[in-house]
Amino acid sequence: MSTMESLIGLVNRIQRACTMLGDYGGGDNAFSSLWEALPTVAVVGGQSSGKSSVLESIVGRDFLPRGSGIVTRRPLVLQLHKTGDGSKEYAEFLHLPRRKFTDFSLVRQEIQDETDRMTGKTKQISPVPIHLSIYSPNVVNLTLIDLPGLTKVAIDGQPESIVQDIEMMVRSYVEKPNSIILAISPANQDIATSDAIKLAREVDPTGERTFGVLTKLDLMDKGTDALDVLEGRSYRLQQPWVGIVNRSQADINKNIDMIVARRKEREYFATSPDYAHLASKMGSEYLAKLLSKHLESVIRAQIPSITSMINKSIDELESEMDHLGRPIGVDAGAQLYTILELCRAFDKIFKEHLDGG
Ligand code: GDP
Ligand code: NA
Ligand code: MG
Repeated sequence: MSTMESLIGLVNRIQRACTMLGDYGGGDNAFSSLWEALPTVAVVGGQSSGKSSVLESIVGRDFLPRGSGIVTRRPLVLQLHKTGDGSKEYAEFLHLPRRKFTDFSLVRQEIQDETDRMTGKTKQISPVPIHLSIYSPNVVNLTLIDLPGLTKVAIDGQPESIVQDIEMMVRSYVEKPNSIILAISPANQDIATSDAIKLAREVDPTGERTFGVLTKLDLMDKGTDALDVLEGRSYRLQQPWVGIVNRSQADINKNIDMIVARRKEREYFATSPDYAHLASKMGSEYLAKLLSKHLESVIRAQIPSITSMINKSIDELESEMDHLGRPIGVDAGAQLYTILELCRAFDKIFKEHLDGG
């Protein structure tokens, strides 16, 4: 593994350990500021724009609940941890420590159940995230956050405020200056009406941290509109636009697996008269690599601030440990040690990286 890969892997694990302390999202202690300092990728878009499908393609696994309406009703913080070649792939929820999921259909069921546990079987939303880690040799180190789809009207049984509530929830993730925005827009709708682009433009007007993703290319009338978008003429971003062909509902109903779907996507671009010239920069595998590379450069640029944050955390953690004569609970104590160890490891690798040039 390269130095950068291990640094990103450590960042991932530090985020996870901070979260286990329950400090994410509130308070202003060493851990929440550490979490805030670490970059994540937030997936935003209108309902049914293809957000969950894009995430599944990036992971290369089928594991998210789907259907019409608001399926994603709590944020899903998805941490991908790259493991050594040949190691077995598994998933683990923060709320179910010590249970390793190897059957990904059970992961989907658990996301559904855990959503319902918080919201009841209503169509309500909750800002309390579900945390899921996937360990696999086939992923790139990334933290992605799946968010409820932006919507314009409340449906039966939902309070009128839901439209606003969803927008505020999504906004709280994308307005952080170090969040990377994966703005999903379907190609079969006018880009000028894209909820994702509208929000991204507000919080990131220069487009430096927004990746435009155009899904459903297979569903649009052939022509120049998608090229205008994909080549940056319709809406200019500093990062490249990536076109995607996810599985259709019919593919899903037929249980077309992700490996086959990725192959079909590659074939689609390679043989398309409109997009063949862009084929090497299209598709979900390319998107995953692009994001991972970008995350790497963001982390590299932030290493000085992350390192000082980490050193501050080490100091605070060490004094906290000194005071642990009366432990704050076995699990919390163990987590403090974990964070401390991870921070030390980050610091060490970083210093070696500097020495090694
Ligand atoms: P989300 O609500 O934004 O998470 O959207 P989903 O990923 O659940 O997708 C909504 C529907 O659109 C599903 O039936 C998908 O199969 C379908 N879909 C998503 N992306 C594509 C695509 O690129 N092509 C086709 N044909 N269908 C897609
Ligand atoms: Na949806
Ligand atoms: Mg979804």
